[in-house]
Amino acid sequence: MKSRVEIKSHHIHPMLMALPIGLWAGSLAYDLCDLATDDSGDGRLRQSADDMMLAGFVGALAAAIPGIVDYLAVVPPESSAKGRAARHGMINVGLAALYGINWLLRTRSPARWGRRLGTPLSMLGFGGLMYSGWLGGTLVYRNQIGVDHRGPNAAKWRESGRLKGEPGTPVTVGTMAEFEKPGQMKLVHLNGHRIAVMREGDRIVAFQDRCTHRGGPLTDGVLACNTITCPWHGSQFSVDTGEVVSGPAEEKIRVYPVRVEGEVIRVVAPEPNLDATIEDESGLLPTAGMV
Ligand code: FES
Repeated sequence: MKSRVEIKSHHIHPMLMALPIGLWAGSLAYDLCDLATDDSGDGRLRQSADDMMLAGFVGALAAAIPGIVDYLAVVPPESSAKGRAARHGMINVGLAALYGINWLLRTRSPARWGRRLGTPLSMLGFGGLMYSGWLGGTLVYRNQIGVDHRGPNAAKWRESGRLKGEPGTPVTVGTMAEFEKPGQMKLVHLNGHRIAVMREGDRIVAFQDRCTHRGGPLTDGVLACNTITCPWHGSQFSVDTGEVVSGPAEEKIRVYPVRVEGEVIRVVAPEPNLDATIEDESGLLPTAGMV
């Protein structure tokens, strides 16, 4: 799913993460050079290590902002990726705290042990940085978080704002002009539900976005022959009945009645989702009216 903080599809979070990774790695390298050469001269190696550590700390704070936005607004709720992203974020918060304390010990502690503790703490931090990077890579390369998918026929990503409607009544979720190409998909947020609305041939179908296997986003999947294929592990579901066509998913998905009246597409509103996600309640989505 496409990142919310980007410049022309270039995501900001991975760009900024280069700062703490590079600077903290550089800081450790200077520390090791200082140890190896017994920099007893003017202490420039130690000074460089300290300065790079502080600069990395500032970079980490800057990178955290788009990371938090994407965690709340992009990572599918109730999915394996959500837990992984939470671990990734918590480790990064811990690392920022560790490097902040490390810098204070090095530069502000009058005791010599404060300085001596610096290099072991940097080694510990570097190990945590590698683990966090591994989790971040898994989020992108396996869970495809932040990937700007193009659907069949190069269909672009579309998403509605928060919509509400009386349960059982049709609610406008889009127009046929938005579904000009076969395979076009749109993620609709209706009464706290995430609903995938797609064009299948000449008709419009609607079904739950969440794959019942591990919560993969079906709006990023491929729709063909009345079957949607999940992008994470390949489960397939009928878009007519919601039944599993092929695993590993075992539980069917929910399908929603659709009414097309002229150019207007309406989906029958489900009961409000009392477990609506932070995303649907936080205002990170555009508010209603922006269908
Ligand atoms: S999340 Fe595993 S197949 Fe969809």
